Amino acid sequence: MIDTSSAIPTAIESKHLFLRAAAGAVTERPPVWLMRQAGRILPQYRALRSKFPDFKTFVKTPEASTEATIQPVDELGVDAAIIFSDILVVPEAMGLDYEMIEAKGPRFPKVIEYQKDIDALLTGKAAAEHLSYVYEALKMTKTALADRVPLIGFAGAPWTIFAYMVEGGGSKTFSKARRMLYTEPAMSHLLLQKITDTTIAYLQNQVLAGADLLQLFDSWAGELPPAHYRIFAVPYLRQICEALPEVPKTVFAKGAWFALEDLAELPCQVIGLDWNITPEYAKKATEGSKVLQGNLDPCNLYADAATIKKETTAMLQAFGGNHIANLGHGVYPDTPLDGVRVFVDTVKEGMRNEG
Ligand code: CP3
Repeated sequence: MIDTSSAIPTAIESKHLFLRAAAGAVTERPPVWLMRQAGRILPQYRALRSKFPDFKTFVKTPEASTEATIQPVDELGVDAAIIFSDILVVPEAMGLDYEMIEAKGPRFPKVIEYQKDIDALLTGKAAAEHLSYVYEALKMTKTALADRVPLIGFAGAPWTIFAYMVEGGGSKTFSKARRMLYTEPAMSHLLLQKITDTTIAYLQNQVLAGADLLQLFDSWAGELPPAHYRIFAVPYLRQICEALPEVPKTVFAKGAWFALEDLAELPCQVIGLDWNITPEYAKKATEGSKVLQGNLDPCNLYADAATIKKETTAMLQAFGGNHIANLGHGVYPDTPLDGVRVFVDTVKEGMRNEG
C-alpha cells in the first residue's frame, strides 16, 4: 500500500478502477490500457483516417478525434481512453509549424536555432488558446463516453518538445538538441520555460474540458545524460505537476531508468516504465512511493497467444499491487489485433490465469 495522503480525494473514491489505482488504492485487479491505443492498430481508425487528406486535418476535427478516442474502448475493452491528438500540437500553437509526412513522421520546416527564434514564440495562455480544437474534442468525448471509462489528457514533456523544436524531427543522435544544452544553457532554459508555461496553460484547459488524469510523455528522456536530465528535464516536470493539483498525473520518461529516484520525488501519482526496467528495480528505486505503469515489451504482442499470456501474467505478478498494466511504449502500428486482445484479456481475467 502506498502513501495516499497526497492522493486526489475524488480519484480515490472514483467508481473507475483506473482512477482508484492511479490514486494508490488497492484494486481488485490492475486496470489496463495501451499507450497509442487510439489509432494505427485499429482497422476502424484507418477507415476513418482515410476520409481525411492528412493527419493534421484529422487531429483538428473534434468529431474525428472523439471517434478515434472511443474506438479502442469499444473494440478492446480497455479501462481508460486517451484523447486522440499529438504532442506536436504544442510547438505548433507556439508558432512552430510541423508537417506529418505519411509513413515517415513529423518534420518542422523551421527550427529553433537562435535567441530571436525563441523570442518570436507565443507562450503560456496566448499559445494555449490556439488549441481549442483539443478542448472541444475532450468535451465531446466526455459526453460520448458517458462515464464508461475515464479520459486521459496528455502533453509532451518539455525536454521532448524542445528536442523536436531544435532538431526539426526525429533523430538518431539528437545531437543538435543535446549540443544546445552545452553551448547555450541559458537560452535552452528560456525555451524550456516557454514550453513549460504553454504546457501548463494547455493542461489546465484540458482539465477544465474534462480530462480525468494527465500523462506527460518524455519520449526522448533516455537521450540525456543523468546530470542533464536533472538540470534540463526534472525541474520543468516538477513545475507542471505542481501547477495541476486537481487531477492525478503520470510521468512516462522513456529510457530514464537512471532518473527513477528523482522522478519518484515529483508530485505525480504514477510513473510510467519502459520495458528496459525490471519491476523489481523500479519498485526499489521509487521505494513504493508511486503507482507504477507498464511495461511489457511492445514486441511481445507479436508472439503467440500462450507466450503473451505467460509474459503478461509474469509481469502482473512481478509488480504485485499498485500497478496499471500497459506496454513499455506505444503499441506498434503493425501489431496484430489478436495479440493486443490477449494482452488486455489476460489482465482483465486477472490472477485466475495464474499457474
Ligand atoms: O492512443 C493514443 O495515444 C493516440 C494519441 C497519440 C498520438 N500521438 C496520435 C498519433 C499520442 C498520445 C501521441 C503521442 C506522441 N506523438 C508521442 C509520445 C509517445 C511516444 O510514442 O513516444 C510522440 C513522440 C509523438 C510524435 C509523433 N506523432 C510521431 C513520431 C509520429 C509519426 C510516427 C508514428 O508514431 O506514427 C506521429 C504521428 C501520429 N500520432 C499518428 C498517430 C495515430 C500516426 C499518423 C497517422 O495516423 O496518420
